[in-house]
Amino acid sequence: MNHRISFHTIGTPNVLRWEEAPLPEPRPGEAKVRHRAIGVNYIDAYQRSGAYPVPLPAYPGFEAVGRVEALGSDTAGLQVGQRVGYVDGGAGAYSEAKNHPASRLIPLPETISDDEAAGLLFKGLTAHMLVRRVWRPQPGAWALVHAAAGGVGLVLTRWLTSEGVRVIGLVSTDEKAALAKAEGAEATLVVHRGDSYSALPNQVRQLTGRAGAAVVFDSTGRDTFESSLDSLAPFGLLVSYGRSSGPLPTFDPAELAKRGSLALQRPSIFHHVADHAILQSAAKEMFAAHAEGKLKAHIHRRLPLQEAAEAHALFESRATTGALILLP
Ligand SMILES: NC(=O)c1ccc[n+]([C@@H]2O[C@H](COP(=O)([O-])OP(=O)(O)OC[C@H]3O[C@@H](n4cnc5c(N)ncnc54)[C@H](OP(=O)(O)O)[C@@H]3O)[C@@H](O)[C@H]2O)c1
Repeated sequence: MNHRISFHTIGTPNVLRWEEAPLPEPRPGEAKVRHRAIGVNYIDAYQRSGAYPVPLPAYPGFEAVGRVEALGSDTAGLQVGQRVGYVDGGAGAYSEAKNHPASRLIPLPETISDDEAAGLLFKGLTAHMLVRRVWRPQPGAWALVHAAAGGVGLVLTRWLTSEGVRVIGLVSTDEKAALAKAEGAEATLVVHRGDSYSALPNQVRQLTGRAGAAVVFDSTGRDTFESSLDSLAPFGLLVSYGRSSGPLPTFDPAELAKRGSLALQRPSIFHHVADHAILQSAAKEMFAAHAEGKLKAHIHRRLPLQEAAEAHALFESRATTGALILLP
């Protein structure tokens, strides 16, 4: 019998349940994927907590890696036994196996293990979106990277610095600062949990010779929005790509002009890889960057799939660095 994690009400990690779920044969256009490793991402927690509303009952998880076990019709190009991963195509990755849209499967190269791929696909494709589609790295430019020791943060920091960008990593502990530095961050700023981010703009200006950052990658949202805007140089870009502290305040676009003709982007990986050809070419480029050492999978901890609630609790308490993996 197949098993999966579900939640029937929104709430704390304890709402996650382990349940039996019969898995039918794949329909046309679907592949049955037997999971080997499942990636945990912040969006899973946003859905469980109700920050991103979803119909209930719900089945969390967007990212997994495994082997194709059976194929429906209209799945040309895939083979039973093939190693694949995915980052979208519907939730439900927290399961032992899943029927998934064949067109959203990403073939995995031999250069990456199952665990590493589950730790890198979603986060690496997000970093790819940020450095290839949202902002092009400019050698010598300053970037402020929030949660620089987090899952996306470590990958993004390494990718940016490997292309000559001068990264300031924002973190909440000295241990996290050391990790961001190991990935190439030139400077780090530590704002402890519960402390205000109000000093951030001045600190960034001191580090950048008064200029400010060319780009801020802000995944924190509510608590940092204002400070992020104030940390930018004229014509700078605020990339608001997450909201781990809560939703952004409403704001008047005139605030962008007041601070020096700034730009704001709110990108989503799901839009950026919606096109099949773009998904496959982004994944190829991301795996090539991994093979070259430009990015690395950082696995903080592996937990049994049944302990998904523990994974969410660790995540939301800011106790993790890099990626968390669930093993079926
Ligand atoms: N737009 C997209 O398409 C997209 C795709 C992937 C991820 N994301 C976003 O990217 C961010 C990172 O995702 P991830 O999965 O790699 O998670 P993560 O960075 O490993 O974990 C979140 C980190 O955010 C920091 N943080 C700051 N304030 C926080 C708060 N009030 N509560 C919890 N954490 C807080 C913590 O680092 P410190 O303790 O160092 O502050 C924490 O470790 C998330 O916001 C996620 O939504 C967006």
